Amino acid sequence: MAENGAVLYKPLGLLAELTHRCPLGCPYCSNPLALDPRGSELDTQTWARVFAEAAVLGVLQVHLSGGEPGARRDLVAIMAGAHAAGLYTNLITSAVGIALDTLRRLAEAGLDHVQISIQDSERASADRIAGYEGAFARKCALAAEVVHLKIPLTVNAVMHRANIDHIEDMVALALALGASRVEIAHVQYYGWALKNRAALMPSAEQVKRAAATVEELRHRHHGKIVIDAVVPDYYARFPKPCVGGWGRRSLNVTPAGKVLPCHAAESIPGLEFWSVREHSLADIWANSPAFNAFRGTAWMQEPCANCARREIDFGGCRCQAFALTGDAVPRYWPTSMETVPNCGIAERTRLPRRRGSSRLQRAPADLFMHFEIRPVVVHPTKRADVSRHGYRAAQFEDAIARFLPPEPNIRTLERGGSEKT
Ligand code: SF4
Ligand code: FES
Repeated sequence: MAENGAVLYKPLGLLAELTHRCPLGCPYCSNPLALDPRGSELDTQTWARVFAEAAVLGVLQVHLSGGEPGARRDLVAIMAGAHAAGLYTNLITSAVGIALDTLRRLAEAGLDHVQISIQDSERASADRIAGYEGAFARKCALAAEVVHLKIPLTVNAVMHRANIDHIEDMVALALALGASRVEIAHVQYYGWALKNRAALMPSAEQVKRAAATVEELRHRHHGKIVIDAVVPDYYARFPKPCVGGWGRRSLNVTPAGKVLPCHAAESIPGLEFWSVREHSLADIWANSPAFNAFRGTAWMQEPCANCARREIDFGGCRCQAFALTGDAVPRYWPTSMETVPNCGIAERTRLPRRRGSSRLQRAPADLFMHFEIRPVVVHPTKRADVSRHGYRAAQFEDAIARFLPPEPNIRTLERGGSEKT
């Protein structure tokens, strides 16, 4: 039992952000806007201790990520530490910054899996999005060596408005590279992606077409490649069960050693994070104030608090709620869109409820059956109106249309990553 009364599960996965350094400059970079400097990074021995503690805690797999993990000169030793702890090791890389020889040494040291991100299906566009001339060729070369070394390969095809119509070509590229799995991974709007959201957000029509394409490709390539795909957050009918539930299944260690319940948790002000420099991982998992802030369901307000899906999606993503509304658990009413930015149930349940009433209207049963792609984003300048007057579908359709520029223009975007490798 956790301090806040919630059930204390064992974590299964650990995301090890070895560094924020990266030679690329993707406009949707998952790095935070404030990067951990090189001098603050955990050393090899501390990572080995963290992996050993993680294994004792129940963690089964570690994702060696960044930034670009290849920017760490001790990457092989770090990976060996995770392998020695008995963890399944997954290297998440841009492929730029990992020499073929380093990959061979990683394989010898026991690396289990490699995930390479690609920016687009053809060279010029991929390099332009990555902000790095020659990145595409290096990705293809590293992928070939991964397959040659018989390490399972996943291609992570990062999708957004500028390339979402190239899904078929991206899957063809993944097949040609010898990948056993491809993730059609739509950009998640945190950090740099949130900054560049207007240019990255696809239209509803694009998302519908993409969903149909994925279904057709799954059918066509059944048995040859696994195609995983998720609907982009803002178009999903229901919120995603972000990180499998806050403080429930995974933890994230930053380059400097802070332990976060999710990669964007530092964007929520007021949370207290503990560091592996001062605490054991087990102590952090059970007692860190940040992990207990949204663990379980006691923190929830209506409509989540009494919703049948509260143990399925855990109320959605706290970081996204904060990014859209300025509050991870908004306390004003009406709350639905603001509390749970893309929850179909929340949209319905808020309408009949009056201020002060404790009764909620039941969501229609067919809500649970329907999969419907529809934009429900709140335009920042419209939020006050929405709060006062309640949800109006047309208003949101209109808002998202205004939110999108006529054409995506990757050239003008702010670049993530960092050149300090
Ligand atoms: Fe999930 Fe929406 Fe129910 Fe909250 S109201 S638990 S976000 S389905
Ligand atoms: Fe933080 Fe979803 S990214 S809860």
